[in-house]
Amino acid sequence: MTEPSALDRARGQHERRWGRAEILSRAPGRVNLIGEHTDYNDGFVLPMALPFDTAIAASRAPDGSKTEIFSEGFGHAVLAPAPAEVDPRHWAVYLHGVHGLLKAEGVDPGPWKASIATDIPAGAGLSSSAAIEVAAASTILGFAQTMRSPAETARLCQRVDNEIVGVPSGLMDQMISASAIAGHALLIDCRSLQTRPYPLPEESVVAIMDTNTRRQLVDSEYSDRRAACVRAAAAMGLESLRDARLEDLERLTPELGIERRRAHHVITENQRTLDAAQAMSDGDPGTLGELMNSSHQSLRDDYGVSGPALDQITEIARDSPGCFGARLTGGGFAGCAVALVQADKAAEFRAGVEERYRNQCGLEAGIWLCEPAAGASLTTADA
Ligand code: GLA
Repeated sequence: MTEPSALDRARGQHERRWGRAEILSRAPGRVNLIGEHTDYNDGFVLPMALPFDTAIAASRAPDGSKTEIFSEGFGHAVLAPAPAEVDPRHWAVYLHGVHGLLKAEGVDPGPWKASIATDIPAGAGLSSSAAIEVAAASTILGFAQTMRSPAETARLCQRVDNEIVGVPSGLMDQMISASAIAGHALLIDCRSLQTRPYPLPEESVVAIMDTNTRRQLVDSEYSDRRAACVRAAAAMGLESLRDARLEDLERLTPELGIERRRAHHVITENQRTLDAAQAMSDGDPGTLGELMNSSHQSLRDDYGVSGPALDQITEIARDSPGCFGARLTGGGFAGCAVALVQADKAAEFRAGVEERYRNQCGLEAGIWLCEPAAGASLTTADA
């Protein structure tokens, strides 16, 4: 028997607690195949949605009642009436934030109740926070019968991270959660926000490898990297590193050694991401895998965002049957890596990586073999 999905659980919970749901909304987590730490430099990213969702079942409540949520994992919360009243450390900050920002923009459908469930592992770097933001935004926009494009929704959700949670993250996570296409990764130009779908090469699957080590994105490391990129672009006289070429690095004086390495990563990663999209359209998993390996090396050596467990699991993966390439994915330091694997060797790959990672690191890896899933969706129940 298959396990009930997050959407089924949210709907069931809602019926028991508050009655029939009027809106069912879901948004997926993501894994980035390549294009890391490029989104906030106006660059290119190539993520895909995962078959793991955060789901919300919701119904309107009578005027004058509270807007309340119940989460399967965290319990009950009443939403704050304005963004200024949101506590950035509260577990429901993403819902509070989306609700508050939309209200400040005049989108206020009145009180509602919602039940939430998720299948996205929290804290693993698979964008559980972007998924809840996007699902919450779709729910409220659905009640208000207001249409927004996926890019507009993603921008609103990013403001929750930037302005309320205090993480200066880019737009990749929310964009892919809002606009993914099943069976495809999406090349996103983070300057124009144009997207283009690329299918996975035939006979290959994506393996997500959770090192089971954790680190918070709120860490100052992320902001440090972002600030170094801004300094590097300014020293080159450019608006952003998107516009830099390798020759421009010569213009950085010797005291800017760190900025030079960070910029070197961003410039080469943008090119690797475009090359990876080309490899996908050529149906060439070998080249795609090599680009993933080089991306990891650049993130480790130039950008300084790998970590011991991520280095170990990617090395083990590269040595395992059927692996085309492997790299860390997301912000880095801990959490998940991603590998491209030959489909008919995937089971052997998984068992081999699990065993060797256990023996070498004394930790249990969580490995999921995934096909790219669809982006956020919303259904309304018939009256
Ligand atoms: C985190 C951020 C993204 C992106 C990645 C690194 O996931 O949320 O915006 O910057 O790190 O590529």
